Amino acid sequence: MSRIKLAVLFGGVSSEYEVSLQSAYNVLQNIPQERYEVFPVGITKSGRWLYFPGSYEMVRDGSWKTHPDCVGCSISPDRSRRGIVKFLPDGTTSCVKIDAAFPVLHGKNGEDGTVQGLLDLAGIPYVGCGVLSSACCMDKVVTKVLLEQAGIQTAPFLWFSKGDIDRLDAYKKEIARDLGYPCFVKPANAGSSVGITKVKREEELRDAVLLAFTHDDKVLVEKAMVGQEVECAVLGNRQLITGIPGEILSESEFYDYDAKYVSQSPTVVPARLSPALLDQVQETAKRAFAVLGCTGLSRIDFFVGEFGICLNEINTLPGFTSISMYSKMMEAAGIPYGELLDRLVDLALERAAE
Ligand SMILES: Nc1ncnc2c1ncn2[C@@H]1O[C@H](COP(=O)(O)OP(=O)(O)O)[C@@H](O)[C@H]1O
Ligand SMILES: [Mg+2]
Repeated sequence: MSRIKLAVLFGGVSSEYEVSLQSAYNVLQNIPQERYEVFPVGITKSGRWLYFPGSYEMVRDGSWKTHPDCVGCSISPDRSRRGIVKFLPDGTTSCVKIDAAFPVLHGKNGEDGTVQGLLDLAGIPYVGCGVLSSACCMDKVVTKVLLEQAGIQTAPFLWFSKGDIDRLDAYKKEIARDLGYPCFVKPANAGSSVGITKVKREEELRDAVLLAFTHDDKVLVEKAMVGQEVECAVLGNRQLITGIPGEILSESEFYDYDAKYVSQSPTVVPARLSPALLDQVQETAKRAFAVLGCTGLSRIDFFVGEFGICLNEINTLPGFTSISMYSKMMEAAGIPYGELLDRLVDLALERAAE
């Protein structure tokens, strides 16, 4: 049987570019070679698409784009091509047909439905969520509204747009009355904790809001949920399976960029919860996955405390190294990383065939 031709997309115009390189390095290293012929495509931080024929180590150390054999490329939206168009140095083009794509891209311009839209136009099956669910999960306000409407609890919140900044004093009153301090101020669309502030006093609110607005035009203010941070991996299209929920043991003020990637907070799987609560987390994660119309995979993050189970956010392309939480939680449920990659591509092909 011939191998599946798989495009692996990495990098991207996103604050999570570096995180994507690490995820992609792990995917490239562990994808079963006997089943897949891999075509790596890197997207630079400024948005250049390059076909990358070099060693995967150069993806890990970030030097990939300096490889002399990189050539400009794109995914053509033209369905008769269904593949990667390479722009060769002699001015000609060549096209490689592919069977599926794995967008190993985090955050904006990759996890948000944009690349998914291109792949839909191109008629190329791809790993993960489709356009609508990717876009909805990328926007924390939209996610919360849909979840609340389905009866899934999220932290009490309010939100406003850049154009409403003049009304900040009125919002301050609402925040003091309904949310209290500390509260969390976040851009609606971002990731890796960038632009997020834990605001302890009203005087700090304006700066936090202005910072969040540098990342997005929409800002969310949330009540601080004091409790455990628990995550749950979901895999599947309609028949869903979950990983064993895990827990972040962050010692910093909150799980910020530094705690995630620099000092690296310890994590445990399973989360330190009763069997009944672990079960409730898994069931809620599956329901949320279905409510948002997710397919393939998502990591669903919660706060668990006296208030019960409160859903924080849905990551449709979560950090995806072999030691990321998603992989660890699936591994604990009996699915090792290599097999996970295989299953994800199968799910992509299965969805496209429907
Ligand atoms: N409402 C909240 N209550 C308590 N902690 C929060 C709240 N919102 C965010 N945090 C903290 O901030 C971190 C990042 O926020 P999150 O909404 O997950 O954004 P990101 O998409 O950047 O991961 C969380 O992991 C958590 O530690
Ligand atoms: Mg998060």
